[in-house]
Amino acid sequence: MATTYTEAIKIEKSESTKINTVDFNNLAFGQVFTDHMFVCDFEDGKWQTPKIVPYQPIVLDPSAKIFHYGQSIFEGMKAYKDADGSVFLFRPDENIKRMNISAKRLAMPEIPEAYFMNGLKELLKVEKDWIPTSEGSALYIRPFMLATGQGFHASPADAYKFVIAFAPSGPYFSGRVEVLIEEKYSRSANGGVGFAKAGGNYAGQFFPTQLAKDKGYQQVIWTDDNTHEYIEEAGAMNIFVRINDTLLTVPTSDRILDGITRKSIIDIAKADGIDVEVRKIKVTELTEAAENGSLKELFGAGTAAVVSPIAGFGYKGKNYELPVLEETFGARLKKRITDIQTNKSEDPFSWRVKVC
Ligand code: PLP
Ligand code: COI
Repeated sequence: MATTYTEAIKIEKSESTKINTVDFNNLAFGQVFTDHMFVCDFEDGKWQTPKIVPYQPIVLDPSAKIFHYGQSIFEGMKAYKDADGSVFLFRPDENIKRMNISAKRLAMPEIPEAYFMNGLKELLKVEKDWIPTSEGSALYIRPFMLATGQGFHASPADAYKFVIAFAPSGPYFSGRVEVLIEEKYSRSANGGVGFAKAGGNYAGQFFPTQLAKDKGYQQVIWTDDNTHEYIEEAGAMNIFVRINDTLLTVPTSDRILDGITRKSIIDIAKADGIDVEVRKIKVTELTEAAENGSLKELFGAGTAAVVSPIAGFGYKGKNYELPVLEETFGARLKKRITDIQTNKSEDPFSWRVKVC
């Protein structure tokens, strides 16, 4: 059956705004939320009328399957405002595609691309004034879908809610980041859901990450579940390694999220003349390179932090420090990508999408 998704969005405006209560020069990450949200329900086998409504709690029956079986997926993206007040998204089509890859894996209905994109653009027009412009800040966008359908039977729900909420946000990390290379726990496994942005993937990371924090590290470097000999991701970010002047990152797989920042960095680095290798990286390659001085940089890459430099890592009870360099690939690539995102530079890859 051909379905059209051009239905107009119903907009119910909030009677007041919280915007004057927010200190836009001191924003934490994801702590304050804008006045409205986009909502679309999936019921009776189809997506219902999309709506923009005042930001509000979601009330669910205690038997809603999200509470019991964790059918929940999300995306993370950002909107930026340039000096002229124009609003931009960065590669939003990639997030929409990935949302539906996640939906399929979690046996949830795919969200029609037009519903997602139109809803996001309309909500951005309503909340334009909330987009921060200070250095390092942006409007963090959190699209998510949850199972609202009821019943204790362990099977996919028959109803879902798709929501887009906004949080004007500052930097994700502040201060020095030291990481622990994980030898016991795994974030994901072959055949699992590691490539999806499923809520449960993150819940499963919290305990091992807390153990690492108790030992004085801020994050975990995930290794492969089978041997724990190969590095996979840096917390909730993709990982990059610089050995001498080569930038390395690991191939995506069933177990690794196909990060949009990761693939953008690969393209920007190559265009910048940096040697890039996408291949498996053994933990011992890192420890040996740290010992012989060829390990120059380690950094995580993701929408929230963009690039997060790693100052040192622990492995098998030993700590390894990274050198302090004046000029890093990490800082250079972060500037290139944020300049594209914020319309401060040309966009040779056509990644920027103007909203209004
Ligand atoms: N890896 C994981 C597990 C993530 O949750 C994220 C964040 O979304 C990333 C990598 C980076 O992906 P992206 O660059 O698309 O934000
Ligand atoms: C990222 O954007 O890099 C993330 O990992 C999102 C995080 C808040 C889960």
